[in-house]
Amino acid sequence: MKLWQGRFDSPEAADADAFNESLSFDKKLWRADIEASVAHATMLGKCGILTAEEADAICAGLRGIFADIEAGRLAVEGQEDIHSFVEGELVSRIGQTGKKLHTARSRNDQVATDMRLYARDAVQSAIGLLKSLISALLARAKETVKYIMPGFTHLRKAQPVNCAQYFNAYSEMFLRDLDRFHALLRRMNVMPLGSAALAGTSWPIDREITRELLHFDSVSQNSLDAVSDRDFVAEYLFCASLTMAHLSRLCEDTILYTSDEFGYWEIPDAYSTGSSIMPQKKNPDIPELVRGKTGRVYGHLVGILTTIKGIPLAYNKDLQEDKEPFFDAQTTLESCLSIYTALISKLTFNVNRMYDAAGDGYATATDVADYLAKRGVPFRDAHAVTGKLVRYCIENGKTLPSLTLEEFRAASPVFEADVLQTVTTRASAEGRNSVGGSSTEAAKAGIASVRKRLKQY
Ligand code: ARG
Repeated sequence: MKLWQGRFDSPEAADADAFNESLSFDKKLWRADIEASVAHATMLGKCGILTAEEADAICAGLRGIFADIEAGRLAVEGQEDIHSFVEGELVSRIGQTGKKLHTARSRNDQVATDMRLYARDAVQSAIGLLKSLISALLARAKETVKYIMPGFTHLRKAQPVNCAQYFNAYSEMFLRDLDRFHALLRRMNVMPLGSAALAGTSWPIDREITRELLHFDSVSQNSLDAVSDRDFVAEYLFCASLTMAHLSRLCEDTILYTSDEFGYWEIPDAYSTGSSIMPQKKNPDIPELVRGKTGRVYGHLVGILTTIKGIPLAYNKDLQEDKEPFFDAQTTLESCLSIYTALISKLTFNVNRMYDAAGDGYATATDVADYLAKRGVPFRDAHAVTGKLVRYCIENGKTLPSLTLEEFRAASPVFEADVLQTVTTRASAEGRNSVGGSSTEAAKAGIASVRKRLKQY
């Protein structure tokens, strides 16, 4: 029997029923639905809309249902949606009084409230996982601040960088993600309950009571908007998408840097996989999967944006389509964040290989140009002289650090003996002492800065 059956003279067709139902997925909202119902019934009692005995009986019945579902004694099944399920169960337990729970409420403000309660927990969980990931990156940065690795642009070796600076770069991205989820938490913590179907209610309810019980910061100010607003779902999916984008970049680096060709890092065996045919293979399945799942989360974001764009005020059933994408994105995001936190913590580093690679490919050429420019040669001319030196190296099979002072001076008389020191890999990285740069000092300051900002959350 449906909650709305009264107006109809025949039951819903089985296929229509199956198509319409949402219990198979919105059962995930059972905690939120019961919690919000207890708050609603408590408020109805306090406002004299229900007698104290009625409100108490309803709340006790609801708490019993909660306990039974939690303990696995009550299966959530057999109804159109979670709201019908909880109400039906309540009526079967406490009888007629249970039918009063839905006074001054609609499933429209109920589901909007349930989703916000659920999403609020999901945001908090994303915040916790991001904090753990940033802590893991900070630990790696602290350990590796003495190491130098190649820095790339266009995936061509560009300049040597400090390993800690590399990890700090990802901490910066994830700090922004953390901040975005935090801002979302503040923006979304508004209670729709009390908006009823769309236009509010003539019952003398007190929304402040329910707001306080459910720990919302404020109550919605327009009932038409409140029942049909799913911005917070889209925002969660955007925050999740951007976090996945950052994770995916880190995965891409991991896959490249752990390949035989690069050989800078190693993923421990416990986090690697093999091939069923090629016995020698050690594959980076975890980073590949995280990178792959990124597309799936983006898909959910585009999905919800498309779903909400054509919805006339106020509630329309299209909005039921907010749930599966949200739940899937949440599971995906949370599992990716936690597996990557584990993987990052267990990476090992081939320190010498990273150092040697950092000096390859004339990676200190900018330092040579800067050397000249600091001694009065206009940078453009210094760039051209250095370009010629690189060409000389290429033609003669040499590297910049292997050139003699005479070879430098043949290119420009401005070079003095100290250039031989300037072109070393370590001096190159250490020279970039600007805020956020690659020197050990700057990288250490970067670590301190990340740590300080992380503490604010
Ligand atoms: N399952 C519905 C949803 O997720 C609940 C609200 C139903 N409201 C209604 N007027 N049919 O949106």
